[in-house]
Amino acid sequence: MRILFLGDIVGRPGRRAVCNRLPQLRRKYGLDLVLANVENASGGLGLNRKHAQQLHRAGVEAMTSGNHIWRYKEILPFLDDTDWLLRPANYPPRVPGRGYTVLEAAGRRVAVLNLQGRVFMDPLDCPFRAADTAVREMQEQNPDVILVDFHAEATSEKQALRHYLNGRVTALLGTHTHVQTGDAAVGQLGTGYITDLGMCGPGNSIIGMDPESILEGFMLQLPKRMSVADSEAVLEGVLLDVRAEDGKCAAITSWRDNEEL
Ligand SMILES: [Fe+2]
Ligand SMILES: [Fe+2]
Repeated sequence: MRILFLGDIVGRPGRRAVCNRLPQLRRKYGLDLVLANVENASGGLGLNRKHAQQLHRAGVEAMTSGNHIWRYKEILPFLDDTDWLLRPANYPPRVPGRGYTVLEAAGRRVAVLNLQGRVFMDPLDCPFRAADTAVREMQEQNPDVILVDFHAEATSEKQALRHYLNGRVTALLGTHTHVQTGDAAVGQLGTGYITDLGMCGPGNSIIGMDPESILEGFMLQLPKRMSVADSEAVLEGVLLDVRAEDGKCAAITSWRDNEEL
């Protein structure tokens, strides 16, 4: 089974590139499932309903998110009503939405879990304990494959969760920094890992945003006026090959596509 998991989709350039290129990418790589983090898909911060539905129609079968998912109020009931759009599982109880889902793809049951880190980020419930609970609950639904998006800033926290979940999940994939790391690998117990998937967004930018506005924020220490950069999009993520017999990760390949749209 082959899965493409895309990093944070940023703004219109990211959405447009994903929607335009997915049909071709499906054929080219023989994809059975496409997943993405979508916390920056609308205007660079957050996600509205229209864009969630647009990406879903384009073939992103399930979506993870992170700290920016709460930006648009209209997404709160949508998170409750939709089983393909996730928010991190370790938000406090009673927060709208769900942290994991189980879907069918190519005759397999694929569980997808979203967690968020706590280092250099707003405080949340413990992602390690939340992972234990979620993995146990997901196991009750007999998944063939378990994928985890760990939306976190600190590389150490991501590596720590990798060790904690080693052998218990098919793959643990980092998001949030928008910068792809070069450490994609499968561990001895068959868990695929990358510290960060990167992003699907404008290439000539600072993590997807217009360089001028971000530079001004850093240099003047005034509140940042962030806007999505207007440049050609780069798509980044990983290709995962999953073994049919035991749901272990056979291969994880960091992937980048910046061909002319
Ligand atoms: Fe992001
Ligand atoms: Fe984030």
